[in-house]
Amino acid sequence: MPKVFYVTTPIYYINSDPHIGSAYTTIVADIVARYKRMMGYDTFFLTGTDEHGQHVLRSAQSAQKDPKDFSDELATRFVNLWKELGISNDGFVRTTDDYHIKTVQDFFQKMYDKGDIYLGKYEGWYCVNCETFWTDKDLNKDKLCPTCNRPLEHIEEENYFFRLSRYTEPLLKHFKEHPDFVEPDFRRNEMLKILEGGLEDVSVSRTSFNWGVPVPFDSKHVVYVWFDALINYVSAIGYGRDEKMFNKYWPADVHFIGKEINRFHSLIWPAMLMSVGLPLPKKIFAHGWLTVNGEKISKSKGNAVDPRILIKAYGIDAVKYYLLRDIQFGNDGDFSEDNLIVRINADLANDLGNLVHRTLSMISQNFDTLPTPSEVGKYDDEIEKLTLETIKDYFRFMDEFKFTEALTTVWKLIKFGNKYIDLTEPWLLAHDDSKRERLATVLYNLSDLIRNVAIMLSPVMVKTSEKIFEKINQKFEGIESLGWHKTVAGVNVTVGEPLFPRIDIKKWKKVINMVNEETQKVDEKSQVTIEDFAKLDLRVARIIKAERIPKAEKLLKLILDVGGENRQIVAGIAKTYTPESLIGREIIIIYNLKPVKLMGEESNGMLLAAKDGDKLRLLTVDGQVETGAKIS
Ligand code: MSP
Repeated sequence: MPKVFYVTTPIYYINSDPHIGSAYTTIVADIVARYKRMMGYDTFFLTGTDEHGQHVLRSAQSAQKDPKDFSDELATRFVNLWKELGISNDGFVRTTDDYHIKTVQDFFQKMYDKGDIYLGKYEGWYCVNCETFWTDKDLNKDKLCPTCNRPLEHIEEENYFFRLSRYTEPLLKHFKEHPDFVEPDFRRNEMLKILEGGLEDVSVSRTSFNWGVPVPFDSKHVVYVWFDALINYVSAIGYGRDEKMFNKYWPADVHFIGKEINRFHSLIWPAMLMSVGLPLPKKIFAHGWLTVNGEKISKSKGNAVDPRILIKAYGIDAVKYYLLRDIQFGNDGDFSEDNLIVRINADLANDLGNLVHRTLSMISQNFDTLPTPSEVGKYDDEIEKLTLETIKDYFRFMDEFKFTEALTTVWKLIKFGNKYIDLTEPWLLAHDDSKRERLATVLYNLSDLIRNVAIMLSPVMVKTSEKIFEKINQKFEGIESLGWHKTVAGVNVTVGEPLFPRIDIKKWKKVINMVNEETQKVDEKSQVTIEDFAKLDLRVARIIKAERIPKAEKLLKLILDVGGENRQIVAGIAKTYTPESLIGREIIIIYNLKPVKLMGEESNGMLLAAKDGDKLRLLTVDGQVETGAKIS
């Protein structure tokens, strides 16, 4: 029987831009998938997007887009991001995919047939941002969402309910019989506590909007978005469609999730699976939350950085190494750009980079090819023993998802490599012809250590590992190549550039520019009076024509109707808006701005837009207003 491994990430809401926090789960899952593949497992790694529900619908409405078009556009952003991050997912599920919709309906029907779904009335609170129902007893006096702290909406709806209460006992039994079902331990204990208090039935459909999967036997209802989303883990691997594939991969080996969605994964999802008679996932690992430079990730703070920006500045391998090395997986952690630099300079440039560079330089200065070992000497037992011990510890830590420990143990070996150079003093051996064989052994041992390091690092630092293999001219044959003295001697090596250039702290420019609350306060000198403001003539205008300006990729030429008068303006919005999408929109312009010429076109006024990262969002009016209306 081939060894099989199935690993998943949460599916992300499309209406939020991915940031380093959301990329974190996917990066970790990718590393685990790569590790398992290296260990010879037939691995399936799934990620995807969560596209139904009220939050996505509202975002689509405010962008004046059809929710499906909106979803198509935004899902592509995630697909592209993962590509750019070198994520090796085997599947990408979208909850608007036909096969998924059908699976959700079949699943819902099965639960209904089992007597686990009944019609009732929901009255309580709802967080649109988290798509979560809350009851009075969950809330404190300010009635904010316990997860995201945003205001809640009170809803009263006819809903279908899932008899979750029926599953309290079976779940308790499962938790007791499978102590590793939920990790880390403290997250498991939180779930156990909820279970011990008894589960209540939960609402699983909505009727006040229709952006979702229709309930198969009652089209007034759409399936509750969380219910729909959780089913992705089985729909994507062929449940009810491709039994061979499904039976191969299910149950999942691990669902990686963030701590805030543990209840859905560790209580509701298992109960849903029990209801339809499917085995439960083997493990749910709920990791902690990342802050950035000590602050909660939020757009307004300017720290919701697009991971691509970080990767462009520091390289994907360095960012991944830092995340896994510095943030203890499972706990909350802080992404600090300062600490990232420390890791790059100390661990990557100094320890690893130097070890590789020094070893290869000495080989190329003293030998034509990678030399063969012969004369065994002092410290050689130590380097061999430590390499073998490191490999053992590395496996143990990686299998337990203890990435910090796995990397720390590899770094102990790297540091020993540098120490071995200092102890064996190859530069002295090189000056003595009678020590040539000893020199060959020392350099061979170092190459062998480096090769082992490169294999162990390969799931985390894909490119670096490939580069090392190229430099020492060895074939990467997966896990089989791990072990002492498996390096092929007699091959040409390449010294080349150091693997990681040191970052010069004096010239270094941070890429995460936090908005400092102090600087946000308007200083008195820059305050304006109402008279200053009154000088601006702001008006409502309707776009009646829009076209691109040749050779100006950011600019669009717009013809506006402003109270019956036609005006031409040039606006730098072509990266966010297509000309067609603008026709008919009501916007706000500065009417009395001095005309200018841009790319040879007259611009008679300026439109207003909000900046959202590198995107722009047009300012508009609430409801229809006569064009030309003044704004005050
Ligand atoms: N769509 C649901 C999940 C459905 S899974 C069946 C959802 N989506 S989400 O877009 O809000 O993404 C949540 C996940 O993103 C978290 O569970 C976590 O894995 C990751 N993170 C988002 N922000 C994060 C941090 N600041 N830190 C670490 N991970 C975070 O919930």
